[in-house]
Amino acid sequence: MDKIKKRPIILDGDPGHDDAIGWVLAASADEFDIKAITTVAGNQTLEKVTYNARRIAALLHLDIEVAKGRNRPLCSDLIIAPNFHGETGLDGPELPEPDHELSPLSAPEMMAKVLKESEEKVTIITTGAQTNVAALLLSHPELKDRIEMISTMGGGLRNGNWTSGAEFNILVDPEAAYTVYHSGVKLQSCFLDVTERALVYPEDWDRIRSLNNPIAKVVAEWFDFFFIHVKSLGWSGATTHDPCAVMSLLHPEIFDIRDYYVDIELKGNYCRGATVADYNGRTGNKPNCACVVDLDREKFVDYLYEACKKYEGWEV
Ligand code: RIB
Ligand code: CA
Repeated sequence: MDKIKKRPIILDGDPGHDDAIGWVLAASADEFDIKAITTVAGNQTLEKVTYNARRIAALLHLDIEVAKGRNRPLCSDLIIAPNFHGETGLDGPELPEPDHELSPLSAPEMMAKVLKESEEKVTIITTGAQTNVAALLLSHPELKDRIEMISTMGGGLRNGNWTSGAEFNILVDPEAAYTVYHSGVKLQSCFLDVTERALVYPEDWDRIRSLNNPIAKVVAEWFDFFFIHVKSLGWSGATTHDPCAVMSLLHPEIFDIRDYYVDIELKGNYCRGATVADYNGRTGNKPNCACVVDLDREKFVDYLYEACKKYEGWEV
């Protein structure tokens, strides 16, 4: 039987508990060939999220390089989210120390290297500010056609979460998001519309914990920590944002995905960073984004459980 043709991917993010859970999901998928991990400041400083990314790579036995991106957005000052992710950016369970050296390449240059070397077009899954992807597109426009698509978590069509108008990843670097949304590269984005419905409840991650393998235990303890602040905001379950950007590639059938033209608000005292969708074509612009706006929550949780189950007997 033919070997499964693996889909080359790059994971770009700001781990961050939900980035980390998304990366556990990606690493469990036989369909994916993870070529590189790149980091961007957001949930915590660049140094902290990069150290976290290297520890996650060690935890998941990924024989790949981690490359760090810019330590600040293209045009604005950095905002971070220690209230959600703690002082380290990934508070909670103990993780192994990094077992690979940090790449000497910058994140955009690592992305460019992977794109140049890959026989197949590459999918970039970005779950933080889109600074690195924008820097790649601006510095290597000749490589655009080597990108299969960009799958992101970012934005909110109905509401924001950092301000009422803007979601955190977009607000950290609106100019980067504008560059991505105007690049012409195939784009699929998981907005808060879906990720705030991707609620994982304590009983769901206790079910994952009962798998009793080292990765399932770490994932459950990441949920334990992440839910502390989320619960204080009134949520009954953990808003599991970033895994949607991975799961919607693996199981698109459990999501509601609609094509809209979406633009990024760069100005305004109150709505900078808003993602504004043209629902009925009034702008005359062709859709530029496959917008992931809803899901089958139970199936999402089941697939997350099945992904963690694949780590049975894992050596940490
Ligand atoms: O708004 C949610 C997003 O911001 C997620 O990617 C989370 O990790 C934070 O980066
Ligand atoms: Ca993130």
